[in-house]
Amino acid sequence: MCSMSKAQQEKVLSEADTRAKSELAGLVGPYAEAVEAKLREYLGKVRGPEQLAEAMGYAVLGPGKRIRPALVLMCNEACGGQREAALTAGCAVEMLHAYSLVHDDLPSMDDDDVRRGRATCHKVYGEAVAILAGDALLTEAFGIIAEEIDSAELVKNLVKELAQASGAGGMVAGQAADMLTEGKKGDARMLEYIHSNKTAKLIRACCRMGALTGAASSEELEALGSYGEAVGMAFQVIDDLLDVGGDAQMLGKAVGKDDRTGKLTYPSIVGVKAAREKVRSLGETAAAALRPLGRRGEKLTELAELLARRVT
Ligand code: IPE
Ligand code: IPE
Ligand code: MG
Ligand code: MG
Ligand code: MG
Repeated sequence: MCSMSKAQQEKVLSEADTRAKSELAGLVGPYAEAVEAKLREYLGKVRGPEQLAEAMGYAVLGPGKRIRPALVLMCNEACGGQREAALTAGCAVEMLHAYSLVHDDLPSMDDDDVRRGRATCHKVYGEAVAILAGDALLTEAFGIIAEEIDSAELVKNLVKELAQASGAGGMVAGQAADMLTEGKKGDARMLEYIHSNKTAKLIRACCRMGALTGAASSEELEALGSYGEAVGMAFQVIDDLLDVGGDAQMLGKAVGKDDRTGKLTYPSIVGVKAAREKVRSLGETAAAALRPLGRRGEKLTELAELLARRVT
């Protein structure tokens, strides 16, 4: 029988974790670079007090995984079409996502001190500037879509997609339910509602925005939306799992907080084993959704597989 010491097991585990992290970064890296260069360009044009612009840059250019803009660009590639518009849409989504993280970390919300391996925005710039930097990132996200994309029809469709996913019928609704149920008893239906709204809808929108900037047929738009929904749900279930069993340093944020603050999470409601099973079955749903795209869906299948094993 092979008997490994605890130290050896931990070493093997961390080697696997490091590999999972670098495989994901390898696939997403080229998209992340393009998005970061464009974000720098947009942020260079921000007017207003220097501290505000600095806080916006701090929040959005911090070392995030850039999964959402990568999804926009990969879905655009899968359908063929306007890459420039997809790059703008990807930047808009990352700006909106960064705003959601800044506000999520505020003392009146999750009250976190560390994000992306650094002090949270409000810890560095103070609450007032952090709130305003979030406001500005959210507003500018829609601004760049309107300013940078020529086709009025495409602008309208992208704005609609992003607003529906992130507003009072999407991410903000999910965040509100997340806060209002803190410390309360909840059931699987409420949990599904929270996760679908706070995380999955925006990830689904990324895929649909990529398809819209590409030359997607309506069948492909639907297929990529279903893929995004499954990947997005799995993304938040894994976020919950990593809060239980992940490594704070690797994640760049605190762990064990969901339990301490009484959040409704998959591990707390259905347990770790069922949460892992949920991730596995969502992976199957995501892969099946891509079938209409044939070989053009291969990279997205790989991304879903890497995200299912993510440790950061
Ligand atoms: C964290 O998102 C917030 C969730 C919706 C779970 P990410 O895990 O994508 O965070 P970054 O962008 O890589 O920092
Ligand atoms: C946040 O969920 C989802 C957002 C829309 C920002 P969490 O509160 O679990 O995200 P983390 O764990 O702080 O990144
Ligand atoms: Mg939260
Ligand atoms: Mg949080
Ligand atoms: Mg979390």
